[in-house]
Amino acid sequence: MDKLVIEGGVSLNGVIAVSGSKNAALPILFASILLDAPTTFTNVPNLRDIHTTIKLLTLLGCACDFADNTVCMTPGTLTAEAPYDLVRTMRASVLCLGPLLARLGQAKVALPGGCAIGARPVDQHLKGLEKMGAHFDLDAGNIIGRCTKLHGAHITFDMPTVGGTENLLMAASLAEGETVLENAAREPEIVDLANFLISCGARISGHGTSCIRIQGVSSLGGTTYPIMPDRIEAGTFLVAAGITNGNLLVKNCPWQELEAVILKLQSMGMVLEKHPEGVLARRGEAGLRSVDVQTRPFPGFPTDMQAQLMSLMCLAKGSSLVEESIFENRFMHVSELLRMGAHIRVTGRSAMVRGVEHLTGAPVMASDLRASASLVLAGLAAHGTTHVRRIYHLDRGYENIETKLNAVGARIRREQE
Ligand code: EPZ
Repeated sequence: MDKLVIEGGVSLNGVIAVSGSKNAALPILFASILLDAPTTFTNVPNLRDIHTTIKLLTLLGCACDFADNTVCMTPGTLTAEAPYDLVRTMRASVLCLGPLLARLGQAKVALPGGCAIGARPVDQHLKGLEKMGAHFDLDAGNIIGRCTKLHGAHITFDMPTVGGTENLLMAASLAEGETVLENAAREPEIVDLANFLISCGARISGHGTSCIRIQGVSSLGGTTYPIMPDRIEAGTFLVAAGITNGNLLVKNCPWQELEAVILKLQSMGMVLEKHPEGVLARRGEAGLRSVDVQTRPFPGFPTDMQAQLMSLMCLAKGSSLVEESIFENRFMHVSELLRMGAHIRVTGRSAMVRGVEHLTGAPVMASDLRASASLVLAGLAAHGTTHVRRIYHLDRGYENIETKLNAVGARIRREQE
């Protein structure tokens, strides 16, 4: 296994570019299962989860080639079974369920287990697909789904689930009649998926709102589609500028899709300005000040930026309260930040962060994707050397992160653990 060795205390200055969005690319690639014609995806990030998805799609009958951040998909004869040894490495594999049922009327997908941040059930996915005419059995850890032909339905989610909205959006695109998704998730990645499906001939409206309407069509053609920039990678780089007291132009950084994060960073004393190529980010003269945050579904503050913001809070004047309302166990980074000298107290789903003068480098352990990012950020600012172990978590969601950060002044090397 690899680790990152980070010599801290250096300000980052220069231009750092954001790659394509992992959380837009994954559902969009799974939507390949719905298509009758070859399709090209551009600006696809070179990530472990992308290669896992490509492997799975190829096994299912959608042959995919990846080169230079481009995926070329050629549809073939579909099979209905997603093998456990692939699904268990990536929860997002459950996104093949809706498309397989829509195309084949059957699907066998391993029930995704929990992960470090929570139980992450898929009951909303199954409940919605059942309303569209699917029947499910659970056999030896596999979800076995069957239907004659999916039909439109009026579905109201118990909570705005991103994956549930994506699964049902894809399934409804080829179902008979109209489907209405109420209390749908509004994340920009769902808008990107809907725009992709529309470019293939789907009839969708209301995407980006909590009520999405889909008129099923009989088939979907091919297209060439650019994946949107990764707003969470972008937000991570904005924090990197603040935590190292540097000055970065974060290229391709979206403003609107990141507004909740930008407003929070500005409240903490960062100066963020729109630039023709992205967003300029630096720490203000008055330094960093504490702020409170609650994670919420979009357009609220994204849970995927909670860990990164907490690292910044560790160096802010005053105390900050963090409430994690989406996942039940998303404070795994706290114990590692404490090893670096942070002052954080966790009570249930809340964490109180009291700012300190500086952090000190230490050996720390990554536990999940965004916790890894928060430890890298803390290591960049800390006095001394930080060893971040188990960075396979990081490689799932950040393309060449040490190369990008070293190009703007960081001192990071990747080593065998
Ligand atoms: C997506 O996960 C993202 N993953 C996550 O990003 C992100 O944190 C999450 O949305 C929330 O924004 C991808 O897009 C691949 P949910 P997803 O369904 O779809 C509960 C990262 O770091 N729920 O919106 O799994 C669930 O337990 C990853 O890039 C049910 O109860 O999230 C959670 O509490 C981590 N039943 C809440 O809803 C269901 O059937 C939100 O989950 C579905 C969800």
